[in-house]
Amino acid sequence: MAGNSFGQLFRLTTFGESHGKALGGVIDGCPAGITLDLEQIQSELDRRKPGQSAIVTQRKEPDTVEFYSGIFEGKTTGTPIGFAIHNTNQKSKDYSHIKDSYRPSHADYVYDKKYGFRDYRGGGRSSARETASRVVAGAIAKQLLNGIKINAYVSQVGEMTLEKDYKTLNLSKIDSNPVRCPDTEMAKKMEEYIKSIKKEGDTIGGIVSCVIQNVPIGLGEPVFDKLHATLGAAMLSINAVKGFEYGSGFEGVKMKGSQHNDAFNSDGTTATNRSGGVQGGISNGMDIYFNVAFKPVATVLQAYETINKEGEKVTTQGKGRHDPCVVPRAVPIVEAMAALVLADYTLLARSNKI
Ligand SMILES: Cc1cc2nc3c(=O)[nH]c(=O)nc-3n(C[C@H](O)[C@H](O)[C@H](O)COP(=O)(O)O)c2cc1C
Repeated sequence: MAGNSFGQLFRLTTFGESHGKALGGVIDGCPAGITLDLEQIQSELDRRKPGQSAIVTQRKEPDTVEFYSGIFEGKTTGTPIGFAIHNTNQKSKDYSHIKDSYRPSHADYVYDKKYGFRDYRGGGRSSARETASRVVAGAIAKQLLNGIKINAYVSQVGEMTLEKDYKTLNLSKIDSNPVRCPDTEMAKKMEEYIKSIKKEGDTIGGIVSCVIQNVPIGLGEPVFDKLHATLGAAMLSINAVKGFEYGSGFEGVKMKGSQHNDAFNSDGTTATNRSGGVQGGISNGMDIYFNVAFKPVATVLQAYETINKEGEKVTTQGKGRHDPCVVPRAVPIVEAMAALVLADYTLLARSNKI
C-alpha cells in the first residue's frame, strides 16, 4: 500500500490502524539542532484527542506520544525522528456488524475491493486516528517555523456560518470553547446544535478556516509544486474533507479583474489580499488564508440500509463511539498539515538561489 509519506525534504511517513497496537511515524529530513518543546507537542495532541468534550467521540484515549529516536538532550539530531502513540481503548466488538457489510460513504467498500481484505475494526487504516501522527509531526514542524503563525478555527457547522473576516476575530479565543470557534456567542450556538445532532444519532459537516501569518516571500516551487497546490493536497488528504478554497476562492469568480486585482503599495505589500498570500504558486508575504470543508461523517447511530459482501441488501444499526461533527477535532489537524507544508517549503526555498 503506497501513499503513506508526505513532503519532499521534511518528510513524514505514518503507520498504524485504529485498533492495532499503536500508531506513529518517522520524520526524515528534520534539520539538526532544533530545541524541541515536548510539552507543546503533547498539548497539540491533546487538542485532537477523542473524549475531550461532550461533542466529540467518547473513545477514551490518553494519546501520549513516545519518541524513540532523533532527539538527544532536547534537540533534534538530524537523524530520523521515530515516535508512537499506543492505542489503549479499542472496543473492536463494536465493529463486528460491519465485518461483512459496508457503511455507506465510508472507506469500507473500496478498501475491500482494492486490497481484497480489510481490517474492519474502527475503520482500520482509513480511521482518522491516523491523523494523530500528523499532529505530532506538525507540532515539530511548527517549532521549525520561526515566527510563522498558523491559526485554524471552526467557521461553519451545518448552516451556521461565522460571517466574519479573520482580522476582526480574537484568535486567542479559539481554544476557549469545545467547538474551537473564536466567536463565543456563535460557538455556544454551534455547540448546542452539535449536541442536538448527536441526540438524533446523526452527523453534521462544517468548515475549518485557517490563516498563516508572517510568511516570508518566496515559498512555493512552480510549476507542479506551487504552494497553494500542495496546501490543497495536504488538506484534501485529511479524512472527510470535501472542499478546499484559498484567497477569494469560489466567490472570486463573481468579480471583474479590475475589481479583483490586489493593488500594490509602494513597499510591495498589497492593499487587498484576494490572492490569499500566493501568486504564481509563490508566497508574496501577505497572509495565507483558506477554508477546508468537512462532510457530515458516514457513521450514523441509526438503522441504515446497505449491502453485504455478497451484494445483498441488508439493514443494520450504526454502533460504536463516533464524532457527530469532526470540525472541532480537525482544527489541530489542519494546522499540522499546514505546518508540514511550510516546513518542507522553507527547506526547499534554501535551494532557490546561490
Ligand atoms: C477528526 C476526525 C474524526 C472522524 N471521526 C469519524 C467517526 O467518528 N466516524 C466516521 O464514520 N468517520 C469519521 N471521520 C471520517 C472518516 O475517517 C472518513 O470519512 C473515512 O475515512 C472515509 O474517507 P473520506 O470521507 O475522506 O472519503 C473522522 C474524520 C476526522 C477528520
